[in-house]
Amino acid sequence: MSRKFIRNDGRKPEELRRPYKIKLGVVPRANGSALVQSGKTIVMAAVYGPKKVIPKHLEDQEKAILRCRYNMITFSVKDRKKPGPDKRSAEISKLIENALSNVVMLEEYPRTAIDIYLEVIQADAGTRVAALTAASLALADAGIAMKDLIPSTAAGRVNGHIVLDLNKEEEDVEDAIDLPFAYIPSTKEVVLLQMDGIADIEEIEEIIEMAKKGCDKIYEMQIKAIKEKYGSYLEE
Ligand code: CDP
Repeated sequence: MSRKFIRNDGRKPEELRRPYKIKLGVVPRANGSALVQSGKTIVMAAVYGPKKVIPKHLEDQEKAILRCRYNMITFSVKDRKKPGPDKRSAEISKLIENALSNVVMLEEYPRTAIDIYLEVIQADAGTRVAALTAASLALADAGIAMKDLIPSTAAGRVNGHIVLDLNKEEEDVEDAIDLPFAYIPSTKEVVLLQMDGIADIEEIEEIIEMAKKGCDKIYEMQIKAIKEKYGSYLEE
């Protein structure tokens, strides 16, 4: 991989977008919340619960039910997005729900629901990975028992170069590969892996390695954000 390659926004191949920002507690009335910004992509997560399950027949006697709703606001993209649910949003909601169910200790909260609302305020590619990163932070902010946080980012190939955290312009390049990825740092379990494009196995391995390094950087920022807000409690 050429280290001299400079991207359309001035980044080196292995750099996350600038700014990459994490903020906790952005929605005062929610039990937990977080905002993640990666360049021009901005996502907010708000967690409500554990709370009573409505409708009651969805209740699980053994554990909490986790419900995610990913939504892009109408003016989050350049061309106005038709409001309301669609197939893509339903798929992304499910992916995030599945990833999170690997870390949330649902059995600690039987007969309850934990609702996670993920609102894409502005989209410039990588919204599902920003949403997942924000979701695990919002759950931690809500004080919900978890085995670990989940950092998530994408890596891929643009004009023959392996790069981290693609923006929309990069994602739209012909032959580009985009691989959204997430893993649990403490166990190394991969909880999200998708791919757009065609690549050989060596290339895919290289892209995954790049995504993992990106996740490690994001994980450090996630821990820092939690320590900044709850540091005094953690030391007790
Ligand atoms: O956002 P993410 O990369 O997780 O998902 P995608 O389906 O690969 O979409 C890539 C990007 O396309 C989004 O982040 C938006 O910038 C854009 N998009 C759009 O403009 N209109 C849509 N209805 C869906 C996506």
